[in-house]
Amino acid sequence: MKTIIEPFRTKVVEAIKFTTRSEREEILKKAGYNLFQIRAEDVMVDFLTDSGTSAMSSEQWAALMRGDESYAGCSSYFRFEEAVQQIFGFPIVIPVHQGRAAERLLFGELVKANHIVPSNTHFDTTRANIEFLGGEAIDLPCQEAKDFSSISPFKGNMDIEALRALLKAKAESIPFIMVTVTNNAVGGQPVSVENVREISQLARQFGKPLFIDAARFSENAYLVKLREPAYADKSIGYIAREMFGLADGCMMSAKKDGLANMGGFIALKDKALANSVRNRLIITEGFSTYGGLNGRDLETIAVGLREAMDEDYLCYRLAAAKYLASGLSAAGIPVVEPSGMHAVYIDAKKMLPLIEPRYLPGQRLVCELYLECGLRSCEIGTAMFGHTKADGSQEPARQELVRLALPRRVYGQSHYDYVIEACQLVQERSQSLVGMTIVSEPPLLRHFTARFSPLQPAKCKPLAAVGVTQK
Ligand code: F0G
Repeated sequence: MKTIIEPFRTKVVEAIKFTTRSEREEILKKAGYNLFQIRAEDVMVDFLTDSGTSAMSSEQWAALMRGDESYAGCSSYFRFEEAVQQIFGFPIVIPVHQGRAAERLLFGELVKANHIVPSNTHFDTTRANIEFLGGEAIDLPCQEAKDFSSISPFKGNMDIEALRALLKAKAESIPFIMVTVTNNAVGGQPVSVENVREISQLARQFGKPLFIDAARFSENAYLVKLREPAYADKSIGYIAREMFGLADGCMMSAKKDGLANMGGFIALKDKALANSVRNRLIITEGFSTYGGLNGRDLETIAVGLREAMDEDYLCYRLAAAKYLASGLSAAGIPVVEPSGMHAVYIDAKKMLPLIEPRYLPGQRLVCELYLECGLRSCEIGTAMFGHTKADGSQEPARQELVRLALPRRVYGQSHYDYVIEACQLVQERSQSLVGMTIVSEPPLLRHFTARFSPLQPAKCKPLAAVGVTQK
């Protein structure tokens, strides 16, 4: 059969509230044109994130009832520990309430002021946790990642020569090396086992530990199976063990490939490091067998991690992302190629070429998509990664992307068709869209709470300057 069906059926449904365009205009204005500031019930299709938004399976709901809520040594912890040990191969498993708690605890032990932490590309909370400790988070994406339209199998990889040069020049300032699989910040692109092997060899050579951010480990392993010939006939479990066997530990937000609504963990080999991390855990998160989670959360993660490795599920998941990406491409919308599995990324710089990066084309696009059809998406560009210069203008980010993140097991084909149609309608009037400015912003992770304002049309680049005549 050519048709790939969802490998599940619906048992419970959640109603979507329909809104009109004029209602959405009002909602957006009140929220300072920041989609993180609007109520979820005012969203019709929520592609803000694939994090914590999965639909749980009946097996997860059943496991939830088994949750042991004892303060210390709950049986749920041991089921959770066993699942993590089996999949990732690290002996020590420390639960935390979500990925950024893992980052804060592990980095709190290892990162000191002026340290440098290289990665294929840091996710925003990873970067913020390093910077918060006075360190510098350095991205070393491979060359192919820089061209959004190039088709290359492992655009999530790290630039090995750049890592080698950095280690040679600044080894004493580097406490560890990080790799994020898949590489969320460059479009959800996978990292090959071969690349992790090379990073691991360099790490050993320079005596540095290697940690993997495993948020989307099973999606990464599936793409390895499809694209890295040595693993074509290997199971997802085998590929995961092979990759994590090259590292000294991992952190995971179980809100992604854990198919859970909350949770995460740190898994380590080093006992002394684990003990210090646990001491921090007890101060701020909770006892070491629950780490800020309920027993029932631990149960749902233990089941979810295994379900996320099911190849029928992964095949459907990739097909859904490809369906959305090819629908958008067919409508002439520039998307990052090849599409990842957890999200499809629109290149807002190309889609809205009249809006200069300092006037936030991505932010304009997320607002416009919300107005068009009630879609919530996420800007990954200057609003998220740029910064305000002393003169008040914007230092643009390297990229202007809009991410349509796909919650796991939640939306069906008609939702995707609806989103494709809305994107096309926005595309058709892209030449009349103006940019935005930032009205207020916090010092860190500004995209969550910043307020924006649409520019007056006069401030945009004149259309003639980019060779376009207005209709
Ligand atoms: N690492 C990666 C690669 C992530 O994508 C995220 C979260 C985290 C760490 C932090 O985990 O949210 O559980 O604290 N990514 C979400 C996203 C928020 O929308 O991509 P968390």
